[in-house]
Formats: sequence, structure tokens, C-alpha cells
Amino acid sequence: MNDQESISLREAIQKRHTLKVLADPDAPWPQPANSLRDKVNDLLKMATNAPYHKPADKVHFNDPLNSPVPWRFHVVDAAACRELSERLADVDVPTGKIRNMLAAADALVMSNWLPNPADQDLEFQQFLPTLQNMEHIAAGSAAIQNLLLLATEAGWNNYWSSGGVLRSEMVFQWMGIPLNQILLGAIFLFPSATGDADVKPGSLRDRKGDTSQWSRWVELS
Ligand SMILES: Cc1cc2nc3c(=O)[nH]c(=O)nc-3n(C[C@H](O)[C@H](O)[C@H](O)COP(=O)(O)O)c2cc1C
Repeated sequence: MNDQESISLREAIQKRHTLKVLADPDAPWPQPANSLRDKVNDLLKMATNAPYHKPADKVHFNDPLNSPVPWRFHVVDAAACRELSERLADVDVPTGKIRNMLAAADALVMSNWLPNPADQDLEFQQFLPTLQNMEHIAAGSAAIQNLLLLATEAGWNNYWSSGGVLRSEMVFQWMGIPLNQILLGAIFLFPSATGDADVKPGSLRDRKGDTSQWSRWVELS
């Protein structure tokens, strides 16, 4: 991360882009100083200036994290990222590129949303397709986008991942995350300097098309 001058909101929006930084899990990167926690905490405080329509269901208040907002951020520091990578090496589950990213990350923000309880049995991380659940997801997504823009401004390379193995019950339990939360984004914060590491951009970055392909001015008929 850089100690750089702040940039405008427009610049942060233009500059934000997916960058996956892939290090060798057998040669993890040095961990940043503890002061980084303060910087991440500042990002989180700012990121929560996101809109939300309905409070989370009260089942989610029976936890030390008991805000009515329908999202929760669980921050995994660099030391814990490295340990998590080691633990994943010892279990027989596919991990894709997650261990490479855990070896490079300054931090991982497990960004969850809080589904309303269902009146039927559902699998882990499943939810009912209700309006309120949709709006909880939308609110959580707004908070995550704030986080990405702030991370961009602060000089972190960043990546919103669906999470792969990080979605598993095993990893939730390792991290002490309540099992009634759902992972919306595993947000990786990588150092700005990537050296000779393998880096990968978002595969859909250049396929967004022109504004006229996804927006229109309405004419009433
Ligand atoms: C909800 C969500 C989940 C994503 N999950 C993944 C993922 O698992 N793997 C991946 O390669 N990219 C993932 N991405 C990042 C997209 O690939 C990326 O945003 C897209 O290619 C556009 O690139 P840009 O972010 O640079 O604009 C995800 C993005 C979002 C919003």
C-alpha cells in the first residue's frame, strides 16, 4: 500500500480494476506492519457509508457483531492469510489460485450478507429468493464497492472473488464466522508493488460495452 495523496471519487472509480496477484505459496510475501490494521479499519468505517433498506433479521443480533446493517466484514490479516494457506495445503480440497493470493495479500476481507431465516431447511449458504434478501445483498454490495474504491484510493491492488474454498463451512469455522451468514465477496487487498509476481486482470473487464448497450432514457408510451 502507498501513502499517497487522495484522489477524487471520479479518479477512484476509473482507476478501480480487478487485479489478482499470485505469489508462490511456498514463498509467501513479507507481512506488512501492524499499523496496517488502522488503515484497514479506516477503510471499513468509511465503507459502511452505504445505503441499506431493511435491518437484518434479529437472528443475526445474537453475536458480538450485532449492527442492524445487513452486511458483516471479517478481516483476515496477512499473518492469518499465510496460516490459512498452510492449513488449506493440509486438507484434501481444491483450492484453485486461492493459496497463491493468500500468499501475497496484505489482508482478506470476508464480506458477508445476512439472509433472513427461511421457514424450511436449506443447505449451507442457501437462501430464499425474497425481495428483502435481494435488498440485503444489494446493500452489502454497495458497502463492498465502497471498500474497493477506498482500497484503490489507498493504493491497494484489489480483487472481489466469489471465494471458492473460502465459502466452505470448514473455513467459516476456522474464522469464527457464524454459519448463518453468506459470503458475498472475498475481497483481497494486495500491495501496490507486485514485483515479478504473476498478475491477472478481470476477464470481463473489456467486455462491458458502451453506455448505450446497458442504459437508455425512457420514453413513455
Ligand atoms: C460478485 C462478484 C464475484 C466475482 N467473483 C470472481 C471470481 O470468483 N473470479 C474472478 O476471476 N473474478 C471474479 N470477479 C471479478 C470479475 O471478474 C471482474 O469484476 C470483471 O472481470 C470486470 O473486471 P474489473 O473488475 O477490472 O472491472 C467477481 C466480481 C463480482 C462483482
